[in-house]
Amino acid sequence: MDCKMMKTQLPSGNYMPLIGFGTFQIRGRALIRNVLDHAFAAGYRQIDTAAVYGNEQDIGTALKELLPKYNLKREDIFITSKLSPSDQGNAALRALQTSIKNLDCGYLDLFLIHWPGVHGIRGSHPDNQKLRSLSWETLIKSVQQGLVRDIGVSNYTIPHLTEIVSKNYNVKVAVNQVEWHPHCHEEDLKQFCQNEKILLQAYSSLGGSSNLKLLSDAVVVDVANKLEKSPAQVLLRWALQQNIGIIPKARSKEHIEANIDLNFVIPEEDMNKLSNLRTVEKYAWDPKSIS
Ligand SMILES: NC(=O)c1ccc[n+]([C@@H]2O[C@H](COP(=O)([O-])OP(=O)(O)OC[C@H]3O[C@@H](n4cnc5c(N)ncnc54)[C@H](OP(=O)(O)O)[C@@H]3O)[C@@H](O)[C@H]2O)c1
Repeated sequence: MDCKMMKTQLPSGNYMPLIGFGTFQIRGRALIRNVLDHAFAAGYRQIDTAAVYGNEQDIGTALKELLPKYNLKREDIFITSKLSPSDQGNAALRALQTSIKNLDCGYLDLFLIHWPGVHGIRGSHPDNQKLRSLSWETLIKSVQQGLVRDIGVSNYTIPHLTEIVSKNYNVKVAVNQVEWHPHCHEEDLKQFCQNEKILLQAYSSLGGSSNLKLLSDAVVVDVANKLEKSPAQVLLRWALQQNIGIIPKARSKEHIEANIDLNFVIPEEDMNKLSNLRTVEKYAWDPKSIS
C-alpha cells in the first residue's frame, strides 16, 4: 500500500494518517507557510503542533491559504495539538479552546496531554498525578462537547498509562506520542499500547534537531546503502513498518519530500539489526522522573 494512504482508526472512528508533519521549532509566518506548502504538495495530510511550539496561529493562517490551493477541506486534514504542562487540570478546557482559536480550525482531530508532569511542580510530587488525571477527565468532557475528536497523551510510561486505562473511562486513550527510534524503544511499552489499542506515535525519529548520532549510525547507514535509500528514510520506514505513526520534521523541500517517500520494504534481517542496536540513548526529555 502507498504509505501516504496508510491510516489507523482511532476510538472516535476518525482515521489518522500514519505519516504526519512535525513542526517543533518551526516558527514564523513565512517559514510555516513554505514548509506546509511543500508538505501538502508532497502528500502529508497530518500536522503535529503543540501550544508550547508557539506556531499555532501561523499554522492557522497558512491553512487559510493552503487548503484552497490544494483543493482540500478542513476534514481532509488531521490536526493534532497538545496541552501545555502549564495548563494541566481544570485549565485544560480553556487551553484546548485557545489552541482551536489559534489554529482557527473549528475542532481538533487529536489533543494530547504533552507531558505527564505539571510545570512548576517537582517530578516526584503526587500533585502531578492528581492534575494529569483531572486533565484527562476535563478532556473527556471536551470530546463530548465536540471540540476534539480523540484525546491522547505524550511521553507517558506504562505506569502513567495504567492510571488512565485502569479507570475504564468511556473515552479511550487514542495515541501515546513518545520518543521512538532504534536508539530508544521500549518493547514493553509497544506491547502495552498494542494490547490497549493505543496508537504509538514516534517523535524524534531522526534523533531530533542538530543531532547526527542516529543518522550516522553505522548500521543505519549500511542498511540505507544496501536499499539505496537515505538513512532518514530507513529510520522512518523502520517505525512505519511496525505500524508506529511518524511525524518527521524538516525545513527543506528535499527532506520534506524524502520523508514521505517510504514505499519500500526493509527486509526482516535488517529490521532486526536496527531493532537490536545496543546504543540506548534518549535525545529528548525523559518522563521516567515524573511520578
Ligand atoms: N511530544 C513531544 O514531547 C515531542 C518532542 C519532540 C518532538 N515532537 C514532535 O515530533 C516532531 C519530530 O521530532 P523532532 O522535531 O525532534 O525531530 P526529527 O524529526 O527527529 O528530526 C528533525 C531534524 O532532522 C533533519 N532532517 C529532516 N529530514 C531529514 C532528512 N531526510 N535527511 C537528513 N536530515 C533530515 C531536520 O533538518 P531540516 O529541518 O534542516 O530539514 C531536523 O534538524 C516534532 O517536530 C514535533 O512535532 C514531540
